[in-house]
Amino acid sequence: MAVGKAMLIFVFTLATLIPSLLADIGFFDDVWQKRAEEAKKMTLDAYVPDPEGATDEFNAEVNKYPLSNNSSVVEAFANRNITHLDFDDEEDFEQFANGTRRNLRQGKKKYVGPCQATNPIDRCWRCRKNWNKNRKRLAKCALGFGRRTTGGMAGRIYVVTDNSDDDVLNPKPGTLRHAVIQNEPLWIIFSKNMNIRLSKELIMTSNKTIDGRGHHIHIAYGAGITIQFIQNVIIHGIRIHHIVATSGGNIRDSVDHYGIRTNSDGDGISIFGSTNVWIDHVSMSRCTDGLIDAIMGSTAITISNSHFTHHNDVILLGASDSYSGDQLMQVTVAFNHFGQGLVQRMPRCRWGFFHVVNNDYTHWRMYAIGGSKHPTIISQGNRFIAPPELALKEVTKRDYATKEEWSKWTWRSENDLLMNGAFFVQSGQPRTKRPHRKFMIKAKPGSLATRMTRFAGALDCKPGRNC
Ligand SMILES: *[C@@H]1O[C@H](CO)[C@@H](O)[C@H](O)[C@H]1NC(C)=O
Ligand SMILES: *[C@@H]1O[C@H](CO)[C@@H](O)[C@H](O)[C@H]1NC(C)=O
Ligand SMILES: *[C@@H]1O[C@H](CO)[C@@H](O)[C@H](O)[C@H]1NC(C)=O
Ligand SMILES: *[C@@H]1O[C@H](CO)[C@@H](O)[C@H](O)[C@H]1NC(C)=O
Ligand SMILES: *[C@@H]1O[C@H](CO)[C@@H](O)[C@H](O)[C@H]1NC(C)=O
Repeated sequence: MAVGKAMLIFVFTLATLIPSLLADIGFFDDVWQKRAEEAKKMTLDAYVPDPEGATDEFNAEVNKYPLSNNSSVVEAFANRNITHLDFDDEEDFEQFANGTRRNLRQGKKKYVGPCQATNPIDRCWRCRKNWNKNRKRLAKCALGFGRRTTGGMAGRIYVVTDNSDDDVLNPKPGTLRHAVIQNEPLWIIFSKNMNIRLSKELIMTSNKTIDGRGHHIHIAYGAGITIQFIQNVIIHGIRIHHIVATSGGNIRDSVDHYGIRTNSDGDGISIFGSTNVWIDHVSMSRCTDGLIDAIMGSTAITISNSHFTHHNDVILLGASDSYSGDQLMQVTVAFNHFGQGLVQRMPRCRWGFFHVVNNDYTHWRMYAIGGSKHPTIISQGNRFIAPPELALKEVTKRDYATKEEWSKWTWRSENDLLMNGAFFVQSGQPRTKRPHRKFMIKAKPGSLATRMTRFAGALDCKPGRNC
């Protein structure tokens, strides 16, 4: 149920920053203080009082296009055992690093055929030959709670030409780090295939897009991306894997400020007190900590079209049972493929409102969707294929609550396709009518999730050709 905004403002003002959760800020100086205050205002602005309505809007958008079962496509893709990767980060990376990518790729099983955009986000920009001449079109394509995210749309294009990251205090022009600390909005692209090994966490500033289309961009074997107390960030078309914990030290976090950081945990993407973040077509695997964490009042987030593999703690939305400010957290998780070698947290939620819709879950080793602190979880039109072990068939997992408590949490499964014995334990009241609407708009069924997620992960885009 939606909580009144006035009440939330009250709660949020009381919820002070918990020192142990100050992420990696080593010294919370005036600049960070100001950013944190600003970020709180942004969180309140971005929060929508009618999240149920937002789920309807999302589903209406998906329903606009017919996506019927085409028997030949269904046979070729939906009924296949999806334990194998269409876009395998590992192999891709190895081949790229060995300089043998082109030759080896020939042997890979890849989709060949006319460009297909099987969900409304993709339909907005893919399958257009001139995507590279009009990259910013992407900024109009976000859906879900992160739909207002435009990233660097208002700015110029910044071309990263240098994959090094030697000086985190005075980053060299042409490097990714130099791009992300600029004050102006920027649409950041790359001049060639790159493996970027970040020597310390990459601290981004507001109004930026990182757009990896056209090249193979790996952020790997170093630190991850930090989105802290900022707004309006798009991350698209890159591969993030093997992120490790790195030591702290002084890091520049904008052209006119730097500060001391403590050690980083090794998250792929860490979203902290930030709003309007859209992560799309990103391939992620094997990070030391989480693949994506969104915590401390982060909201208006969409995670879409991404491909997750080989990892334990996949997506954490809300890190603290005592941080009630996370009631403002509203996140859409849509059109993702949760694939091989994943264990748990797809996602794991606290406090807020989570729309998990039209994803394909082909593997987990503990559970898929979990949470504590009465989060609202609306699971719609997903496909869940349970692992063979009898003990692992349950999709859901509740923590730190008695059955009496959690039976009041709204966790609903609607139109999900449950396969191989998978079961979703629902709680709370069934959702029927909306307060302000006549109908509730149904999601496309889980039987179509495979089609809608078929091109999840970083795409192979070539200028002048369809992506
Ligand atoms: C698609 O096919 C599946 C399995 O063959 C079936 O269960 C489902 O109802 C079909 N969906 C639609 C929209 O036709
Ligand atoms: C079904 O898919 C096949 C293969 O992609 C395609 O050739 C055919 O036109 C599709 N049929 C329909 C009715 O969409
Ligand atoms: C899918 O995997 C199961 C278990 O590994 C196996 O028994 C089955 O034959 C496979 N099906 C196909 C179509 O490959
Ligand atoms: C790449 O090179 C490494 C080291 O020489 C080798 O172990 C690995 O098998 C190679 N990978 C591929 C895909 O060729
Ligand atoms: C980001 O862009 C918005 C809209 O143009 C602007 O209002 C805001 O001040 C920018 N944020 C920063 C931190 O530059």
